[in-house]
Amino acid sequence: MRQIAAREGSVALFATLAATCVAPALTAALVCDPSLPLHSGTPSMFDPRSAPAEMILDITWLVIAICAVIFVVMEGLIIWAIIRYRAKHARDTAGDTGEPPQVYGSNPIELAWTVIPLLIVFVLFLVSARGIFEIDKQEPPPGALEVRVVGHRWWWEFDYGDLGFSTAAELHIPLTKDGQPQSVFLTLESADVIHSFWVPQLGGKKDVVPGRTNYLWLQPRETGRFVGQCAEYCGAQHAGMLINVVVHEEDDFNAWVANQQKPAHDDPATADGRDLFLSTACINCHTVRGTVANGTFAPDLTHLMSRSVLGSGVIANTPEHLRAWVWDPQDAKPGCDMPAMKLTREDTDRICAWLETLH
Ligand code: CUA
Repeated sequence: MRQIAAREGSVALFATLAATCVAPALTAALVCDPSLPLHSGTPSMFDPRSAPAEMILDITWLVIAICAVIFVVMEGLIIWAIIRYRAKHARDTAGDTGEPPQVYGSNPIELAWTVIPLLIVFVLFLVSARGIFEIDKQEPPPGALEVRVVGHRWWWEFDYGDLGFSTAAELHIPLTKDGQPQSVFLTLESADVIHSFWVPQLGGKKDVVPGRTNYLWLQPRETGRFVGQCAEYCGAQHAGMLINVVVHEEDDFNAWVANQQKPAHDDPATADGRDLFLSTACINCHTVRGTVANGTFAPDLTHLMSRSVLGSGVIANTPEHLRAWVWDPQDAKPGCDMPAMKLTREDTDRICAWLETLH
């Protein structure tokens, strides 16, 4: 019986481990700027605001419930065995042998602890597989928004394709006017290494793999700002590869799109800052539509000031942070591709004064 109790102990340990495997999904420990307005609670998968996220949570609860039952049954049996056989053990050790009778092998018990876990795993497998297929089989309905998401070390590019513009750090998506959720389909691509796109309140985690296109379906049912982050280790600034998703009412979204489609605002008052920018190596990496800057290695800056964050979310987009960033990006985001441009303080101010007009 002691042996059986020991085996049960290891099964209980296994069940506990299985439960802790769910733990990474339990809390999304996300780094985010506290100054950002989070309209929708915490970035937790236990607070879903989108159809696929709700489906995933249902499966998670089922897994947790099954693991909890296993845990209670196994721990109960162990405690029962400890209490039930403690007195007997004390009596036996007082006797000649010093050990209780040993039991070796029991076909019914061996069979039970093989078949029952197999059935449990089979049920969990079927339920998960059904959920995955249910989410993956979604096809974009007519009028659905499709956005191409490209993971770069270490920022996210959001290419709105036919709408004719590209942005970074913040993904803007619509909710339709009468509060009906609008389907959004993301195609996920990588420019370098494997990243993973995960906004826990809106959908499942999906890897972003070089040379492959993955798809992600979102169907937000609430407006607000949702945060997420790259969920696959991708180098020094993996933790600085944050995702902001802003869900708008349809009218607000259309207004946002109309603004993004415009070329860069041209303010004569800051023309010297613009000319300075256009004479530096900045233009090899950044695009500012309406100017000669057409680099594609770094975020499109055409409407930089419409974004609330810099450096893919590592700092809020304030005039102070913008100056610090242009002066030396390595300070806020060590390891990122953008070098300090070795500008003077005055030139940094002139360039930033122009950048601040890019609404
Ligand atoms: Cu990209 Cu981690």
